[in-house]
Order: sequence, then C-alpha cells, then structure tokens
Amino acid sequence: MTSPVLVTGGAGFIGSNFVLDWIAATGEPVVTLDALTYAGNRENLASLEVDPRHHFVHGDILDRALLDELLARHRPRAVVHFAAESHVDRSIHGPAAFVKTNVEGTFTLLEATRQHWAGLAEAERSAFRFLHVSTDEVYGSLLPDAPAFTEAHAHAPNSPYSASKAASDHLVRAWHHTYGLPVLTTNCSNNYGPFHFPEKLIPLMIVNALAGKPLPVYGDGMQVRDWLYVKDHCAAIREVLAHGRVGETYNIGGWNEKPNVEIVETVCALLDEMRPDPAGPYLRLVKHVVDRPGHDRRYAIDARKIERELGWRPEETFESGLRKTVRWYLDHAGWVERVQTGAYRDWLSTNYAARSQAEAGHVGAVPG
Ligand code: NAD
Ligand code: TYD
Repeated sequence: MTSPVLVTGGAGFIGSNFVLDWIAATGEPVVTLDALTYAGNRENLASLEVDPRHHFVHGDILDRALLDELLARHRPRAVVHFAAESHVDRSIHGPAAFVKTNVEGTFTLLEATRQHWAGLAEAERSAFRFLHVSTDEVYGSLLPDAPAFTEAHAHAPNSPYSASKAASDHLVRAWHHTYGLPVLTTNCSNNYGPFHFPEKLIPLMIVNALAGKPLPVYGDGMQVRDWLYVKDHCAAIREVLAHGRVGETYNIGGWNEKPNVEIVETVCALLDEMRPDPAGPYLRLVKHVVDRPGHDRRYAIDARKIERELGWRPEETFESGLRKTVRWYLDHAGWVERVQTGAYRDWLSTNYAARSQAEAGHVGAVPG
C-alpha cells in the first residue's frame, strides 16, 4: 500500500476538507492526528469512519512520544501540518494556548519529523515533505493602495494569533536552512466553505441570521480580507506538495478582496433568496459592535508565484463559492446544532458579553 500522509488538525475546518478531498482526489491513505479541541469535530470525517484508507488518532502535537510512535508505525511520506489555534478573537482573550500549540506544538512536530526523516533510506528521505499551512495574517496590515502581499513581504504580525503563526513559519524555515528538512510553507488568505466553525465571520453570519440573532459587525466593517473557497485551498496544497520547490513559500489567495460589510450584505442577499424570512430582509439584523483591538485593516494576497510555477488558480468565484457555502449550511442544520453546544456556547458569551459592556462604556467608539 502507498505510504500515507500524516495530517495534523484534520478534524478542523480546512483540515477535514483537505482529508476528504485528498482521499477523493488521490485515493491515497491518510493518518489524521487531532487533539479535538473545541474546533475539532470528528463528525466532519464521518464519511470516512469505515474507510480503510483513513486512520484517525486522537492526540496532541505536543505529545512527542505519540508523534515518534505514529511516525515509526505509519512511515508517512509527508506531514501536512494544519493543527493550530486559529481564531484571532480567542487569541486576544487567551494567547497562551496559541503560543503552546502554534509555536511549541510546531516545534515538537518539527523535531519528531526531523528525527524520523534522518533515519529514512535515501530514496524515502529525498521524497519526504513537511508542508506547513500558514496564513496571510503573518504579513500584517496593508494600506488601502499598497500592493498585495508577495512571498518576499516581511513578516509583521499584529495579533497574538498571527504572531504565533509567524513564529511557526520561522521555525519551519530554520529547520530547512539548518537541518535540511524538506519543508514547504503556504500562506493563504481567509477561507470559507463547509465545516467552518460558526465563530468566524461567514458561518457566524449565516447561522445567526437563520436564528434571527444580531449580525455583529466589528467597528465600521470596512476591514478588507481576501476570500478563498476552502476546496480551492485544498487543491493548492495538493499542488504544492506534489510539485512545490523544497524550502519555498507559496502564497495562496482568491483574487477576491472585499470589505466585511459587503460580505455580510452578500450573505444576507443569498439567504433572502434561498430561505426568505417572513419578518423581513436579513440585513435588518446587522449590528455594529465595538471593534477588535489591533484589528488589521486590510489583507491582500498576490498569488502569481503559485500560478506561474505550479499552474494553480482558484476554480470558484466568490459568488459561486458563497452560494455553495450558504446551501451547505441550509442543508446541514443538524451539524450546526451539534456544534453549538458546550464550549462553543461558553465562548460566545465570553466574547460578545465583553463587547456589550465595552459598548455601554464607550458609546462613541461604536459606529452605526
Ligand atoms: P480550525 O481551528 O478549524 O482547526 C484546527 C484543528 O487543529 C482542530 O481540529 C483542532 O482540534 C486541532 N488542534 C488544535 N490544537 C491541536 C493540538 N495541540 N494538537 C493536535 N490538534 C490540534 O482551523 P482552520 O481554520 O481549519 O485552520 C487550519 C490551519 O490553516 C491553521 O494552521 C490556520 O492557521 C491555517 N489557515 C487558516 C485560514 C482560515 O481562513 N481559516 C486561512 C489561512 C491559514
Ligand atoms: P474572522 O472570520 O475572525 O477571520 P480573521 O480575523 O482571521 O480575518 O474575521 C473576518 C473579518 O470579519 C475580520 O475583519 C473580523 C470581522 N468580524 C466581524 O466583523 N464580526 C464578527 O463577529 C467576526 C467573528 C469577525
């Protein structure tokens, strides 16, 4: 049987889409390692539950003994590293977990992988890859007219989340430069699509609108993000893994910059069409709330390198991808309901209760 790829964080949003797409596209086996934090959901991989090509391991990337055992037992040909704490607002409320998983966890995984890789026979050693999945947020914030981030843009992270991801990028780079570990790094823009945990902008807007709850827009809502349909991201990672040049970084983006208010308007318009609310247009639920501290104003990705070298371009437009996403949430009310239990509910009250208090104290800071 072909050697598997070891996917960390494969029960999360992008990781689960990647595992499902990888097996569908290549037929090759996957070992998923996931700690099942609040963001990890085994249900995302339910369709693979009895598939012999998939092996799920509940465990932490900080557990060196487990990593050593998994690498020795499964002898993967590649590690694809998604596992992370990923939500900026959570990183503001509690940065420690971000340093722990994103920095120390990546370090532990690099060390275990390096030891495993060093012991491989020459043919396996040269074919081996460590692909680090990172974000455009490591580059910091852009002025409105500044050119989009290229791979040469200096890291200038502004949130505890992006700082911890930037640190992990640097570790990955150093493990290649110093030890020769065959690494690849991808820095991608904001993803959206199925299995997106409803604490992030797009799924939160869909889920809240359907429940008749307020749609909280931070500050003036004119912050710009570049949006990419998650399955396009998964295809890009497959290309980089197959043909990327070792030691290189590839930016991945959707050529699709939009301010948050426009995202919310488009989500509402799609819901008005697909699930009209007798009470009126969903936009009536928009509520401007206190801004995120240190909120980056604009991200934009220049994805010409991956197109030039690997021929990758996104297949979905924002309109087609968002329509599919809204459809998915309408068709998966049970998934949403099951996700909205326990820790998720606690998180919502911590984040938005604090905002309401701040709002009451600083009325002038709340636009709209
Ligand atoms: P997510 O929060 O949905 O999923 C993270 C997964 O990692 C969860 O399944 C969680 O259980 C697991 N995990 C967390 N800590 C772990 C640990 N210590 N050991 C093992 N597993 C652990 O995140 P996502 O949105 O799917 O992002 C995946 C990766 O892609 C992250 O590295 C993130 O920085 C990067 N990324 C995300 C986006 C985006 O828009 N979501 C964009 C660019 C890059
Ligand atoms: P998010 O989905 O958290 O991704 P990121 O912060 O990693 O870009 O947020 C996307 C944008 O939407 C960001 O500018 C913050 C904003 N936002 C809101 O306005 N309201 C919300 O309730 C959330 C979760 C995000």
